[in-house]
Amino acid sequence: MEERNITKDITWVGKVDDRKVPFHRLILEKGTTYNSYLIHSEKPTIIDTVDIEFGREYMENLSKLIDPSEIEFVVINHVEPDHAGSLPALLSKALKAKIVCTELAALELKRMFRLQKREFLIVKDGDALEIGGKTLLFLETPYLHTEETMMTYLVEDQILFSCDVFSTHIAAVELFNDLSKQEYEEDFKVYYDLIMKPHRPYVSQMLTKIKEIPIQMIAPSHGYILRKDPDKYIEIYREKSQMKDLKNPKKVVIAYSTMTGNTGKIAATLSESLTQAGVDVTVFHLKNANLEEVKDRIRECDGLLVGSATRYGDMVGNMEEFLKILQGEDFHDKKAAAFGSYGWSGEAIAYIDDYLNQLGFCVIDQKYLIKTLGVDSPLLPLRVKFSIENQQQVEEAGRVFGEQI
Ligand code: FEO
Repeated sequence: MEERNITKDITWVGKVDDRKVPFHRLILEKGTTYNSYLIHSEKPTIIDTVDIEFGREYMENLSKLIDPSEIEFVVINHVEPDHAGSLPALLSKALKAKIVCTELAALELKRMFRLQKREFLIVKDGDALEIGGKTLLFLETPYLHTEETMMTYLVEDQILFSCDVFSTHIAAVELFNDLSKQEYEEDFKVYYDLIMKPHRPYVSQMLTKIKEIPIQMIAPSHGYILRKDPDKYIEIYREKSQMKDLKNPKKVVIAYSTMTGNTGKIAATLSESLTQAGVDVTVFHLKNANLEEVKDRIRECDGLLVGSATRYGDMVGNMEEFLKILQGEDFHDKKAAAFGSYGWSGEAIAYIDDYLNQLGFCVIDQKYLIKTLGVDSPLLPLRVKFSIENQQQVEEAGRVFGEQI
């Protein structure tokens, strides 16, 4: 760990980790950095900390620059341990520091680190904080990378502390992109694909938020500080988040069996939501469909949504016959999810989910959403009690499915 100035009154106090770091089931072959920043304003402020493993080293280094008891604010943009991990070590010395974060982050930090007795300053999107001669502006960026995340913008210096966004997992010893002696742009794009792409709609929201903000420098949490051409990296995110192949839209088949019409209405809403997202959708009401034709369409599709009402604890109509004729095919490259209306326990949806897994589809369900999006959400499989009351929820399920194919 070392300290380096990024402007005359902002010091990088992070850690270069050049090991092969395990992270979200990946091995970061080129290592990473945990970027923490000290703003030497009248009310000294820290932006994020370093990984939990390096707390002692972090404090030793920081203490050479400032008496930690003088620190007034610690901004935590994101609570994952590679950002907030050394917060307890910092707070043990920064006794008067207020923790600045979103409401959700505060709940999580209090529980993770037993900080109930510490003072929190909860900020919302667009809030500003005077830190003595400088102003911080907070921008909530949910799901980039997890729900509680925000960015911090230093108004006077036009620096965006962008947290996981615009990061690169690379042991960036040179600190600034214009000093880099190694290729990093491909790593920057790979980072986007791995960490940001699953949350693409939120990337678009974030880009809209920062559009009107003048940005001289992007100071992310990992990898190079983007001092040269920050707009270029924003543009890479813009292009990647908008990437849609209009000539070859993704194809989804929706196949359903309904009893009173409620599951049919869910199918129609899902179809509408996907169509709006530019997906080519074919809907089959199985009662009236040639099952071999449905199977042919599934062979060509990118995603399959299968829905059934539940009657006497089981699927209705010819749903089971349909699922059985799919056996023996290779569907491993296709996404699938179950849906349905139900009155009591909705067993049909669970049975469809089982079938889709047995058939080898990549099934989008709660487990998938946790692992891929970091979201503990019951959105898929989509279970609707009787008729649709929450139209938004069904549309959102369609949108999320469309994003994953
Ligand atoms: Fe850099 Fe979401 O962790």
